[in-house]
Amino acid sequence: MKLLEKVTLGKQTLKNAMAMAPMTRSRANRAGVVSDLTVLYYTQRASAGLLLTEAINISEQALGSPLTPSLYNQEQIDAWKKVTKSVHDNGGAIYAQLWHTGRVGHSVDRDGKLPVAPSAIGIKGQQHFTSQGIKDYETPQELTIVEIRQIVKDYGQAAKNAIEAGFDGVELHAAFGYLPNQFLSESANLRTDEYGGSVENRNRFVLEVMQELVTAIGSDKVGVKLSPTVYYNNIENSDPEAQFKPLIQALNELPLSYIHLMNGMLPLDNHPNYPKNAVETFGSISKHLVIANAGFNKETGEAELEKGIAKIIAYGSLFLANPDLPRRFELNAEFNQLDHATMYGGSEHGYTDYPFLKD
Ligand SMILES: Cc1cc2nc3c(=O)[nH]c(=O)nc-3n(C[C@H](O)[C@H](O)[C@H](O)COP(=O)(O)O)c2cc1C
Repeated sequence: MKLLEKVTLGKQTLKNAMAMAPMTRSRANRAGVVSDLTVLYYTQRASAGLLLTEAINISEQALGSPLTPSLYNQEQIDAWKKVTKSVHDNGGAIYAQLWHTGRVGHSVDRDGKLPVAPSAIGIKGQQHFTSQGIKDYETPQELTIVEIRQIVKDYGQAAKNAIEAGFDGVELHAAFGYLPNQFLSESANLRTDEYGGSVENRNRFVLEVMQELVTAIGSDKVGVKLSPTVYYNNIENSDPEAQFKPLIQALNELPLSYIHLMNGMLPLDNHPNYPKNAVETFGSISKHLVIANAGFNKETGEAELEKGIAKIIAYGSLFLANPDLPRRFELNAEFNQLDHATMYGGSEHGYTDYPFLKD
C-alpha cells in the first residue's frame, strides 16, 4: 500500500505517505502557550509520516480566535520545543502551520482592536466564535502598505522561531479564507495598489510571504496550503483557474518542499466555473511534491496516490479521532468516531483520550 510506504519530503525521509492535516484545537492558554497536554496530543499521532500543526498565530495582530497558540515570544517558542522534541523522539516529523487570520476574527479577543484585511469588507452571512459567544463579523481595517510589509516580516520571524522551536519546517496557511487567501480573492481584495486589481497583484502577497519564509529558513523546509475552490468565509473568485494557475507556476520557481491542496468540500452548483477536483487541476501543474487533502479515507487516499499527482495524503478528522491511524489502515481495523462537541477547546476529553487499538 503506497500510503504506508516511505516518501521523501525535501531532505527528509518520511516513514509513510500519511500526513495529519492541520487542525485548530483551541487548547492553548490565554497567552498562546501550549501545554503538556498538547505535547501528548502530537506525540500520540507521531506515527504519521508528517504532522502539520494546528494553525499558529505569527503575531499578536494575527490572532482571530481565543485559546489558539502563537509563536512570537520566547515562552511560546519554549512550549513548542517540548512538542517537537517529543515527536522527534518518537520518530515523527512536524511542520508548524503559520497563521494570520486577517478579517476572520473579532475585536473582543484582540484587546478591542478591529481585525485587519486587504480591504474594509466584513464577512456576511456567517458568525464568529469568540470568548464572549457567537458574534457577527465586524468591518475590518484596511491594511496600509507599511503594515503589509510588516506582516511579511512577521511571517519570516515566525518561521525562524519555528526552527528555533525544533520544527522541521513551516506551512503557510493560505487556505480557508484567512489573510493570505483574502489577498487572493476578488471578493475580499478590492485594492487598487500593487496588492490588488489584477491576478498578478492579488498573488503578490502570498508570493512575497513565501519568498520571505524561504529567505528566513532556507530551501526544502517551506510548504503552503491552498484551497482554490473553497468559498467559505466569503472567498469568491470568478475564475479560480485564472487566479491560482499563475500562482502555482510562480511557486514552482521557489525551492519549496511541497504544496498542500485542499479539495472543495462545499457544493459547487452555484459555482459553475469552479474546477471539481482541485488536486487534479492545480496539482498537475506543480513541480513540487503535492499533498492532497479533504475527505479522503484509506481507499480513496490510496487511489489518489495511484493517480500519481499527489505523493502524500493529509487526513484531518480521521487522525483527530484515531491517534494510531496508519496502524488501523495497515490492519483494516475499525475507526473511532469523531466527537464534534470536543473539537475546539476544553480539556483532555476529545483531545488525548481517543483510544489506541489494543495489541
Ligand atoms: C477541528 C478542525 C480544525 C481545523 N483547523 C484547521 C487549521 O487550523 N488549519 C487548516 O489549514 N485547516 C484546518 N482544518 C481543516 C483540515 O486541515 C482539513 O483540511 C479538513 O478537515 C478536511 O480534511 P478531512 O476530510 O481529512 O478531515 C480543521 C479541521 C478540523 C476538523
